[in-house]
Amino acid sequence: MTTDPPWWRTAVIYQIYPRSFADASGDGVGDLAGVRGRLGHLRDLGVDAIWFTPWYLSPMADGGYDVADYRAIDPAFGTLADAEALIADAAALGIRTIVDVVPNHVSSEHAWFQAALAAGPGSPERERFWFRDGDAAPTNWRSSFAGGTWTQVADGQWYLHLFAPEQPDLNWNHPDVRREHEDVLRFWFDRGVAGIRVDSASMPVKDPALPEVPETHADGEHPFIDRDELHDIYRAWRAVADSYAEPRVLVGEVWLDDQKRFARYLRPDEMHSAFNFDFMGRPWDAKELRDSIASTLDAHAPVGAPATWVLSNHDVTRPVTRYGRAETSFSFLAKRFGEPTDLGLGERRARAAALLTAALPGALYLYQGDELGLPEVEDLPLDVLQDPMHFRSGGVDPGRDGCRVPLPWTRDGRSYGFGPEDGAPTWLPQPAGWGSRSVEAQQDDPDSMLALYRAALGVRRAEEGLRGESFEWVDLGPDAIAFRRGDVVCVVNFGPEPLPLPAHREVLLASAPLEGMAVNGPLTSTPPTSTPLHLPADAAAWFRA
Ligand code: NOJ
Repeated sequence: MTTDPPWWRTAVIYQIYPRSFADASGDGVGDLAGVRGRLGHLRDLGVDAIWFTPWYLSPMADGGYDVADYRAIDPAFGTLADAEALIADAAALGIRTIVDVVPNHVSSEHAWFQAALAAGPGSPERERFWFRDGDAAPTNWRSSFAGGTWTQVADGQWYLHLFAPEQPDLNWNHPDVRREHEDVLRFWFDRGVAGIRVDSASMPVKDPALPEVPETHADGEHPFIDRDELHDIYRAWRAVADSYAEPRVLVGEVWLDDQKRFARYLRPDEMHSAFNFDFMGRPWDAKELRDSIASTLDAHAPVGAPATWVLSNHDVTRPVTRYGRAETSFSFLAKRFGEPTDLGLGERRARAAALLTAALPGALYLYQGDELGLPEVEDLPLDVLQDPMHFRSGGVDPGRDGCRVPLPWTRDGRSYGFGPEDGAPTWLPQPAGWGSRSVEAQQDDPDSMLALYRAALGVRRAEEGLRGESFEWVDLGPDAIAFRRGDVVCVVNFGPEPLPLPAHREVLLASAPLEGMAVNGPLTSTPPTSTPLHLPADAAAWFRA
């Protein structure tokens, strides 16, 4: 028996968006063989697990979040055998695999929806979805992808889709829907998958009366967000996860402003953890981020769940771009696309944010390419865009393609090593100069973002204080965030002036050169000096108190 916390409480989980990670087949689209060929990068980075955004059979109306068959891999990505081999290869490197499960909806090409269309109004097949009669759409609900949420089919009935029309919503009051998803979980758990990420986890249950969204409503009374009945679903899933000798893990994508309601998903018999979007959306500001850390820790404590720390994902603006703007918060309503950004400043802050998040207690999520400091690509030609969020907004919303551009692996080459030299053009074009941010260009440069991430994850793993769950604020004034974990202290300077580092035995790591110390790049185990060290603006350091 071990007293160590279970792996998922402190894990570093790397998010792979398979279309954009690495392309082995040469068709311009990333694939599972490409991931298998690049697992060494993840081993060297030092991650504990990979979360794959959907790799299932899909017409890709929403980048794979429109699943046609949960038990098949999309041919663009490979085969089920490739997935099994990838899970095994990763496991051999000590890296666990998490897959994405999408309970709210399926693809309109899923067998169930096709059967529902064929069977017609009043059929049992239509009961698995939300079909309604009417001369007009049954409600005025707004889609997360802009526009309405109902589409009319040829026989006159309407069906509900909270996202795109190609993503019909499932009816979670139907026993088939519940049974099928539990079976899908077992299908992947039986293949060695360590856990699932639950897509749009606060949306699957609807009020069957289909009322309009009221201006104000009591907790649990929104017609389709955060309904109380959801918790039974996740309790049932937890029972499936717990039935394995190594219990599997549930990670929720839960977008809720109310931290108390959020924490209800993390009760001991529900999900293990959920993404911390409150922290992710906050601006680069000491008070804002300190408040978010404090309220996050407060909300998680009563349910005993670990916090998670997330700087970005495949839906949001890359941190380097966001943190370089005048306004640094993120929300879907204010993406500030195209507003001027100072990428040098953004990178500096993203480096500090990397050390901040990697030092906080709980699990850390890292979206592919953030370890390379990739910026958001904001000048993709309009005719290459693919995201339904863009199209459904009538072009008002820039969409999410800019954070999904294929990764650069090498300095040169037609696709900077993303695919073979004679391969097809990448599915989204890479910007000129992308190779200067490649793994090859960064791996031997001690000042690179990649070197910083590798060093940070190494220290995080090695230091007992950072592995545990202890946490204590240190007061270094209003412009700093500082806290202590065991004998390790993390300090971030948000103010304009250099901040004197308190007494310390050694500096473990810094996101920028400390003033008073003539060493560049990530520092490890630097001996004490007689000169007082100062942490410059927009930088972070870890030191041993
Ligand atoms: C959340 C996913 O992260 C996003 O990419 C997707 O479009 C929606 N859920 C709908 O599945």
